[in-house]
Amino acid sequence: MNYNKKTVKDVEVSGKKVLLRCDFNVPQDKATGAITSDKRIVAALPTIQYLLENGAAVIACSHLGKPKGERKMELSLAPVAKRLGELLQKPVTFAADTVGPDAKAKAAALKPGEIMLLENTRFEAGETKNDPALAKELASMAELYVSDAFGSVHRAHASTVGVADYLPAVSGLLVARELEVMGKALDDPKRPFVAVLGGAKVSDKINVINNLLSKADAIIIGGGMAYTFAKAQGGSIGQSLLEADKQDYALEMIAKAKDKGVKFLLPVDTLAAKEFSPDAQPVVVDTMAIPDDMQGLDIGPKSVQLFCDAVKGAGTIVWNGPMGVFEFDAFAGGTRAMAQAMAESGAVTIVGGGDSAAAVEQLGFADKITHISTGGGASLEFLEGKELPGVACLQDK
Ligand code: 3PG
Repeated sequence: MNYNKKTVKDVEVSGKKVLLRCDFNVPQDKATGAITSDKRIVAALPTIQYLLENGAAVIACSHLGKPKGERKMELSLAPVAKRLGELLQKPVTFAADTVGPDAKAKAAALKPGEIMLLENTRFEAGETKNDPALAKELASMAELYVSDAFGSVHRAHASTVGVADYLPAVSGLLVARELEVMGKALDDPKRPFVAVLGGAKVSDKINVINNLLSKADAIIIGGGMAYTFAKAQGGSIGQSLLEADKQDYALEMIAKAKDKGVKFLLPVDTLAAKEFSPDAQPVVVDTMAIPDDMQGLDIGPKSVQLFCDAVKGAGTIVWNGPMGVFEFDAFAGGTRAMAQAMAESGAVTIVGGGDSAAAVEQLGFADKITHISTGGGASLEFLEGKELPGVACLQDK
């Protein structure tokens, strides 16, 4: 896939109306609707500021949640418009619809240096179907399309892909940075290139492991998915997570790594407990001999040592998925140790979005990581080597 796409800096934006797709799919408090993290709004600011300072009129849009074509007002973007205005310290006009009369009138009246936000694109049934009629309506308000919604580039929707059929399409600064850092890590990494993969399920990471087996020098496997590998190799894993139907795959990956000369590291010991609870008593056990009444909840101290040694001296480290149940303090040690080892490694360090980003932030290492992706599903598909439709539709450099 070609990541070398034109950005806002490669085109004239002055005096233009710009349709800017952001990923304002922010987490909200279920009871009050309050935005619980504004990271995605903050991440969009550099592109917005660049456009406004360079004389563009910005018509921002985004989805929020999954309203499935209905106007579910608890998923309105109005609170995002308010927060965006606070961050920009300037008024953000909010349209009560997405492509209706309010949006059209406000877009027509928008002047260079001004910004508005359309209502949730997924209030329109055509959005997730990539309906050309909706894409055309969105595009009709603007002269240029800028994609800065990295978290949504794996979705072929009207506002992420369809609009590019009707407008010149370039990337924003956030998308450009994600493509540059992650693209380089995959295509031309500083070696040794070490991938650290964790999380609960093997099935979530199958395509990532497959793709990285032909790119990385070492792959480290932690988290709940490690127990399927242990079981497949004849271990007893007690009550630990198991995807029984993925055991053959696990063995195949171990064999493939051997063939290709890729180091494939699995945990040798485990922090196990009798129950899945923050107060559970951790016990160090052999990963291949977890007692019947116990489940593995984190990697053990010998594995921490083994994995940390493997990332020391790496040129590039890509991390996706925690090593254990980091939400419970007693079982956060493996994830914390890996985050610290990455932070101290001197390597180019990249953390995929979702849980791994949350872990690095919660454990206080975020400012020591080269790049934390804003995409969850999108960064995973990137690591899988899949073509991302929201990137493919942008103009090549
Ligand atoms: C995300 O949060 O990963 C993106 O905003 C995409 O959201 P979606 O999974 O609802 O398409």
